[in-house]
Order: sequence, then structure tokens, then C-alpha cells
Amino acid sequence: EDYEKGGYEHYLRKEIADQPQAVAGTLRGRLDERFATAHLGGIELSARDLRTIRRVKILGCGSAYYSGIVGAELIESLARLPADAEPASEFRYRNPVIDPDTLYLAVSQSGETFDTLAAVHEVQRKGGRVLGVVNVVGSSIARACEGGIYLHAGPEVSVASTKAFNASVVAFALLALHLGRVRDLSPADGKRLITGLERLPDQIATVLEDEEVVRQAAQRFADAPSAFYIGRVRGYPIALEGAQKLKELSYVHAEAYPASELKHGPLALISPEMPTVVIAPDDHLIDKNRSAMEQIKARGGPVVAVGHSPFAGLADETLIVPKNEPELDSVLLGVPLQLLAYHASMLLGRDVDQPRNLAKSVTVE
Ligand code: AGP
Repeated sequence: EDYEKGGYEHYLRKEIADQPQAVAGTLRGRLDERFATAHLGGIELSARDLRTIRRVKILGCGSAYYSGIVGAELIESLARLPADAEPASEFRYRNPVIDPDTLYLAVSQSGETFDTLAAVHEVQRKGGRVLGVVNVVGSSIARACEGGIYLHAGPEVSVASTKAFNASVVAFALLALHLGRVRDLSPADGKRLITGLERLPDQIATVLEDEEVVRQAAQRFADAPSAFYIGRVRGYPIALEGAQKLKELSYVHAEAYPASELKHGPLALISPEMPTVVIAPDDHLIDKNRSAMEQIKARGGPVVAVGHSPFAGLADETLIVPKNEPELDSVLLGVPLQLLAYHASMLLGRDVDQPRNLAKSVTVE
């Protein structure tokens, strides 16, 4: 067991540390610099077939669903195809219209989640085509799908997903690149993304070197009755995933909101006891994120920012990550939030690898 934990006290901490290799595993052998695209051997659709796709719908549960929200945005922005993600657990209950020109994607670490498998069957029953984005080779969802992308992230033992989340995001980036290059994405943009993808493993390793500041910030969350996580567009699913990690691992209540929704209700809850994590990359929305921080500060709320440079006078702490291409920054912005939840969990003496009431793979409805 010690060997499997690689010298770490918990599987979770090992799996967070594994992420440079996990992401490298997802990328291995799939980047084609010459044609500025990604090769995905498990997708046997010709460029002509791929051009007939009119929409993309991503289905998954929990963190897999959140990775799907990131994936849908990547596909929509890079391949200019309308794309969205939906909880697989809800999908079949609303009698969804299954469209033959939609590509359905089922995302799952374990490949055994009952609700995700049931959603795959529902799509197939109505004549739809589903591809998997799955970590466990030969799992039920992988076998049920017509093909797809294996994550090759290595085993994930801890109940809370970490490396599979980021490996899924990277798999969606590969698919978005592939779809983009049979549609309108330029070779120059394809090359830009390939360079960005290749930089990710080393950049994740850099984030992991800076643990002390995260450990200090974790104290705020361990002492708090509740926390907010906010972000805009690409930052919003990272907020959802960050809040999910804090809930699962520390049992501290956390809620994620689009930062733009703050003044439509949640601002009423801001107080000195309630810290807010603001996902604030250095992109075209940075001024909007700054103004959200100002609004929180003005009401006495502690702010922990995650971004590319410090927010002096606005954030009590900033967890700084290296910059990549704007489309790929999500992968790096989420890593300090995994560590934050881990340290909050340790401070509160929780069962890090096996949180109460949860199972690694939910194989019943
Ligand atoms: C993640 O931290 C959770 N434990 C949970 O949301 C998980 O992602 C979900 O149950 C889906 O699991 P899967 O990826 O194996 O399908």
C-alpha cells in the first residue's frame, strides 16, 4: 500500500502529484505538429463524417460533468460547434430529443457510473451516436460506446477525483483541436494549442511546488461555516469543481456561482466569516473579476484569488499559476483548489481518501 501511495500519506495527495504524468499520458502519441492537429485512434470517423456533426452534447456526473462543461466550451470556441454539458443523472428523465446530427460524449473516470451508462443507453435506444471519454480501459461505459478517447491517466483510487478531472479536460481539448482542424481552426491556432498542451505537464509541476501559500489559505476555509467559489465563462466550471472538492474533502459547505450572478442574490451572504475564491485569470474578463473582488471586499468578505499575478489590495491571498493559452488555463487554475481542499480536510481531521457517505464509483441509481 505504501508503494502505491508513492510515499504520500494519502492516495488523494499522490494523485494530485501524479497530474503532470497523468496529463502527459493523455497527450502521448496524439499530437501531430506537422498537420497541427490531434490524432485520436479511438474515433473512427472520417473528416467528412465529422463535418456532418451539428452539435455536441456531453454527459457525465459530478466532477466528470464539470469537466464536460469545460469541454463543451473548448469544443464550441475551437471547433465553432454548439456544445453543452448536462448531468447524465438527469438526462434520461426529461425524455430528451435525440438528434442524429449531434455527437454525444459520455465522460467517466471509472466507466461504471450507473447514471452515465443509463444515459448512453437512452441515446443509443433512440438512434444516437455516443463516444466515451473514459479512464478505465474495458469498463462498462467504454464497451457500450462506439469508440472514444481513453484518458490513460493511471489509476485513481481516492474517492475525490483530481487527476481524472484534468485528464478529461485535456482529452476534450484534443477532441476540440481535432474537430476544429476539420472545420475552421487555422494551422497557426492548431500549432499554438499544441505548444500549449505540451507545456501543461511542466506547468502543473510548477503549481505543485508552491504548496505553502495554499496551506496557509486553507486555514480560512477550515474555520469557515461556508464558502463561495466564483468565476466567469471558463472560470465557472473551475469554481464548480473547486467547491465540489472542498465539500467532499472537508465537509465545509461551498457554493459555486458565475461571478456575474453575485449581485443577483448571493451578495447578501457575504460577511467576514465567509471566504470567496475568485477564479481570475489574466484574460479579457479580468476587470470584471476585479470588480467582483471589490464588491466582496466592500462588504468585509475575505477573498482568495486564483490567477496569474497578485491582486494587491483586493485579495487576501492570491494563488498564482503559470500562464498558458487562454483555452488551456483552466487545467492550471484548478490545481491549487485541489490542494486547498486537501489541506482544509487535513486541518479538520477528515478521512481524506474515503469521505463519509461517498463511494468512488456510483454503480446504482
Ligand atoms: C468527484 O470528486 C466525485 N467523487 C464524483 O463527483 C465523481 O466524479 C462522479 O461520481 C463520476 O464518477 P465517474 O467519473 O467515475 O463516472
